[in-house]
Amino acid sequence: MREQRIILVGFCLILSGLGLVGFQTDFQHFFPGKEWKDDQGVHINAHGGGFLIHEDIYYWFGEHKIAGKEGNKAHVGVRVYSSKDLYNWKNEGVALEVHDDPNSLLVKGCVIERPKVIYNEKTKKFVMWFHHELKGQGYDAALTGVAVSDQVTGPYAYLESVNPNAGIWPENYPDSLKSKPVNLDEMEAWSAEWRAAVVDGIFLRRDFDRGQMARDMTLFVDDDGKAYHFFSSENNQTLHVAELSEDYLSHTGRYTRVLPGQQNEAPAIFKKEGKYYMFSSGLTGWKPNPGKSAVADHPLGPWTPLGNPTRGTEEEMNTTFWSQSTAVIPVLGKEDAFIFVGDRWTPENPIDGKYIFLPVQFEDSKPIIRWQDQWDLSFFDQNESTDE
Ligand code: DGJ
Repeated sequence: MREQRIILVGFCLILSGLGLVGFQTDFQHFFPGKEWKDDQGVHINAHGGGFLIHEDIYYWFGEHKIAGKEGNKAHVGVRVYSSKDLYNWKNEGVALEVHDDPNSLLVKGCVIERPKVIYNEKTKKFVMWFHHELKGQGYDAALTGVAVSDQVTGPYAYLESVNPNAGIWPENYPDSLKSKPVNLDEMEAWSAEWRAAVVDGIFLRRDFDRGQMARDMTLFVDDDGKAYHFFSSENNQTLHVAELSEDYLSHTGRYTRVLPGQQNEAPAIFKKEGKYYMFSSGLTGWKPNPGKSAVADHPLGPWTPLGNPTRGTEEEMNTTFWSQSTAVIPVLGKEDAFIFVGDRWTPENPIDGKYIFLPVQFEDSKPIIRWQDQWDLSFFDQNESTDE
């Protein structure tokens, strides 16, 4: 069987060399952190990825990066791949394109990060949300964009970008804080006074009229079909969780502040046995940092921190295996089997960034990840969690 496979791969390589067929991969394992070729023999280009399962096929959406220092800006858009087994991925093209038109908010050179796609059973539409920064404005706009398509692989039609929940207070924000002054000018950034003011929501109040900042993000669809948008808000100091409308194209105005002042980026959510779990990271730009985890009984919280989910050496724990969380994939056909997905950013040449896929394990009722050079999905059949 193995020999047949080698001959088949060799045959395809020859044909692809002659330009007769696409490159064919036949991976049977994950190799975290290594180059990962798609069906055309090109390293997968879908960073800050989001995963959707539709009709028993996995779709991987992500930032298409280019080579060089400008490579973290959007010059192509959001790329999508499909897979039946999670090991071998077919390039399905560009799902959301950026444009040459300088009047478009999606002009080449803007920033599009962490795109996530969900399927709306009622409207039969695929809805993509992403972190969107405007060309030439750094990370100041802190917008979230939304796009929609009838086809899972697109093309997605861009609708708008917003600072969510303008003029609306979070459900869990006490009345007593709503009229506190926004006296940021009187405080030294990072002082104890400033930190206390951040926890109290000074940035939330500052942005109340214009709408809230929305940077690193993910989406989660619950079993009842309700969708939630998790994003780093309030100068990245506090997460917000906002309910999406029935068509998933806007926010309902129902939202909460989560872990105020605790600096969470890169949220990734999954649900197991009625509980909601979150992986996230700290705030160190493109550099890795110690991962975080949390648990809740409802997407809107309250969320309880569970600590660093990484198990390994000190360096591994301090860098999340040199990665930053981006998604958790539920494995088809296996109960309670989840894969942690992280990015290894390479800002000096962003197209080179690699991916970490690791099985989520449970230890003392906490989701954890351990390093594996190579593994496959049979891991989930052999390994019971250490929980009783
Ligand atoms: C960390 C975020 O998680 C990334 O998505 C990206 O926004 C970088 N910061 C930019 O420095």
